[in-house]
Amino acid sequence: MNELILAIESSCDETSVAVIQNGETILSNIVASQIKSHQRFGGVVPEVASRHHVEQITICIEDALTEAKVVPEDLTAVAVTYGPGLVGALLIGLSAAKAFAWAHDLPLLPVNHMAGHIYAARFVKPLVFPLMALLVSGGHTELVYMVEDGSFEIIGETRDDAAGEAYDKVGRVLGLPYPSGKEIDRLAHIGQDTYHFPRAMIHEDNYDFSFSGLKSAFINHVHNAEQRGETLVPNDLAASFQASVVDVLVAKTIRACQSFPVKQLIVAGGVAANQGLREALETAMLDYPEIELLIPPLRLCGDNAAMIGAYAHIALQKQRIGSLDLNADPSVSFMHSQN
Ligand code: KG4
Ligand code: ZN
Repeated sequence: MNELILAIESSCDETSVAVIQNGETILSNIVASQIKSHQRFGGVVPEVASRHHVEQITICIEDALTEAKVVPEDLTAVAVTYGPGLVGALLIGLSAAKAFAWAHDLPLLPVNHMAGHIYAARFVKPLVFPLMALLVSGGHTELVYMVEDGSFEIIGETRDDAAGEAYDKVGRVLGLPYPSGKEIDRLAHIGQDTYHFPRAMIHEDNYDFSFSGLKSAFINHVHNAEQRGETLVPNDLAASFQASVVDVLVAKTIRACQSFPVKQLIVAGGVAANQGLREALETAMLDYPEIELLIPPLRLCGDNAAMIGAYAHIALQKQRIGSLDLNADPSVSFMHSQN
């Protein structure tokens, strides 16, 4: 078999195009990041993102094909993220994918961005079902139970902010550039959990999360200290914040793994790059040797098209082919078994 999928991702602030062979080998994975353009605004500006995608998309497609040493005639299908994400950003990738598929008479495979994040783990090892996935990104925090390829059941999710969003908001208070997750993670390793922020919902018998209370507690603490003229230690603030996020994520994930007959635990999304979270889960999972912990390498945790190509392989097997009138779906969620 030599299945070659051209995959396109443009849901947020990275334009990315990859060529994936047989759903498991990355022949190329071009990622054009726009972070520098958004930093001065403290977050992603949708109109700026769309404009960058327009400028980058054809270059990325050409680079991905060249690096993979593949010509359009070799390809089996074109895959594209259709949601969730910023509608204007998604539409750029979608239009490029549709035009490419039409011009080269290739099937079009619509991919849910969050399914892509989970399938980034496929580049580490084959997935074994049933499995649990902890999906932690800038827009999502959810526990997803999968009994087979292409079947997603959200068993718990955040009731307010996503974990990555909390990192970015707290980073702003600390005066860090956007996105701040990586830098807070670095500072947290130097500091100590001295401020003991709340661990919201940690003892509740469910799989849901809440991070807005932690964010408020953090901001109030910093403002009160400022008013009193006290100096706080940024490294300890970062460590205390991170300890709270990680404790809750780990506690809920372990509870989910105890309650469902899972063989693997996948950690996915931008926040899966967090060293504190990775280490805490590695330690916690030592008590569950029958469950294999699978975390994608750092370069595949953030948004990229390789992960979209990995899931597209499954979409093709299941013949979940899109039509050329496919539209972006900015707030699509996993219901049971869909793209
Ligand atoms: O998955 P992703 O690249 O984009 C979305 O689909 O949202 O996730 C981006 C998020 C940002 O909020 C960023 O601050 C966070 O992932 N992030 C981290 C780390 N690296 C990136 N959060 C905590 N620790 C990190 N090392
Ligand atoms: Zn993402």
